[in-house]
Amino acid sequence: MPKQLKISPVQGLQGEISLPGDKSISHRAIMLSSLAKGENIIHNFLQSEDCIATANCFREMGIQIKFDGDKAFVVGKGLRGLSRPSKMLEVGNSGTTIRLLSGILAGQKFESQITGDSSIQKRPMKRIIEPLTLMGAKITGKKGTKDETFPPLIINTANLKGLEYNLKVASAQVKSAILLAGLYANGQTTVIEPVQTRDHTERMFGFFGINLTRFNRELSIEAPNDFAGREIFVPGDISSAAYFIVAALIVQNSNITIKNIGTNPTRTGLLQALKKMGAQIELADEEVLSGEPRATIKVGKQIVAAQNLAPSASLIGIDISGEIIPNILDEIPILAVLATQAEGPTVIKDAGELRVKESDRIKTTVSELKKMGADIEEREDGMVIHGPTKLKGAKIQSYGDHRIAMSTAIAGLIAEGETIIEDTACIETSFPGFEAQIQQLITNKTSFNS
Ligand code: S3P
Repeated sequence: MPKQLKISPVQGLQGEISLPGDKSISHRAIMLSSLAKGENIIHNFLQSEDCIATANCFREMGIQIKFDGDKAFVVGKGLRGLSRPSKMLEVGNSGTTIRLLSGILAGQKFESQITGDSSIQKRPMKRIIEPLTLMGAKITGKKGTKDETFPPLIINTANLKGLEYNLKVASAQVKSAILLAGLYANGQTTVIEPVQTRDHTERMFGFFGINLTRFNRELSIEAPNDFAGREIFVPGDISSAAYFIVAALIVQNSNITIKNIGTNPTRTGLLQALKKMGAQIELADEEVLSGEPRATIKVGKQIVAAQNLAPSASLIGIDISGEIIPNILDEIPILAVLATQAEGPTVIKDAGELRVKESDRIKTTVSELKKMGADIEEREDGMVIHGPTKLKGAKIQSYGDHRIAMSTAIAGLIAEGETIIEDTACIETSFPGFEAQIQQLITNKTSFNS
């Protein structure tokens, strides 16, 4: 029976939590550890379905990976140590796995095939096939309409050569696929980004001692010699923290502290947007570990009191577009929930990439929040939300998209009556333990049930 969540309104959220590791960094940690020589320990590794899919792909190519609690132990075999997989590599629902891994597979001396679930088989792959082909890779996939190519992909052995490539979409996945292929290319590989996207690959290259040069938006790499294994500390996932931050801003009587959350500036667009909307959020205990910044995040009335601020005026709607978009894209569904409670319009533009995520997130965010009474309109490259509106409980579809399931679950915390979210198993792709952690913060305990 497919899982569902039932949510009733709550009176407050209180307490201190730590969240599972960052998804993007956990994927990259498994990849780089597998390509390193020798033992690696990854602390606070995100054991979600997506990251386990990455680990299983490397196991299939002969890498020993063991989990113990939230630690992953990976014995890397060096850049040329992967062995030919005996079957098709399976990435489940994970776009990051298929795109980044294709970059690595393009550099191997064996043929490989890679696919995923029904959602993955609808995700566009031309964006990686084009640059990897220019590097000499031979990749075929399933042809679709509009000159697009979809998984399963067949990747054949080739000698890669470096290239200089201007990214056509602002995508960290595409940038990373090219840089990872660059580990195997003859000559220099240069990627030029139209706008800054998340830079976890670049930081992790640096952490493993792989030489990467940056010049403005231009990143260059030459195939390195083998590099040694490392001990990596993954910060908590800011994209998971986003649900709790917004929850604490919209549920009355809330005070929460979230420890050890990644605060890489290429990921904190949500925090910037919330500040512009008038939210009181405080960062403490800031430090950099394993090349990635992290901090404790405090949200709620405590900050207003501690800083002698006037009791918070309501949040105000803002315009969000342009360069911030890649740094807030995954958080737009939950930001839309917050915008239903802000004064005035929130206008989101330049976010057409949302249409090719795990679901068409413009369509699914708009349709599901509308069912809850939100005043929200779909636009080709974004949406407009007019607030504030009183939300009401409704029967919600997740469309198998974890971010839609979790965003609407948070909306349910302030909706009148009961909210039922169908098909919530997808939450496991990025955030096992989501329900339990919300439950832990709720002051009236009976509001959140699966
Ligand atoms: C990711 C990059 C983003 C993001 C995805 C994870 C990554 O995708 O939406 O959840 O780990 O590189 P794009 O770079 O394709 O926009």
